Amino acid sequence: MIRTSGEEGCGQEPPAEELLSIGQVSDRTGVARSALHYYEEVGLIASLRTAGNQRRYPRHLLRRISLITVGRQLGIGLSEIKSALAPVPMHHLPSEEDWLRATAQWKLVLEARRRAIEELEDRLMGCIGCGCLSMQACTLLNPHDQLSQQGAGARRLDPAETAE
Ligand code: FES
Repeated sequence: MIRTSGEEGCGQEPPAEELLSIGQVSDRTGVARSALHYYEEVGLIASLRTAGNQRRYPRHLLRRISLITVGRQLGIGLSEIKSALAPVPMHHLPSEEDWLRATAQWKLVLEARRRAIEELEDRLMGCIGCGCLSMQACTLLNPHDQLSQQGAGARRLDPAETAE
């Protein structure tokens, strides 16, 4: 068996019973084969190849793939997921500390998102009470008067609707 993708090798292949086919991984994780191919292409996961050039995944990658799924469900982009998982080894069983280190970054991202949503909710509640829809004053429609940076006049017209 030869190594095909991913970062460092560990110098020792997992025993055959610890290797799963792509179909088994797809069944166990609920992730489509095409998505697994893509994850591998972008370096999120790595596989080994059999002499017949078939992919085999170490069993411990199931946890990594599940974490990728959770990250996506949380709306975390694949590049952020990749960066968070970068220190987690792919070719041997990661330690508990590896996982904690990886997910600590996500906690920060989620906290920042939670704060942004709460702030948006506060502004929305203010606008529901107000109703002025002022392009100058409304913090929901035009936070920090960002539209003024685009020039004077109305900035909310849809160019597609005004093209005629
Ligand atoms: S509608 Fe008045 S501040 Fe947003």
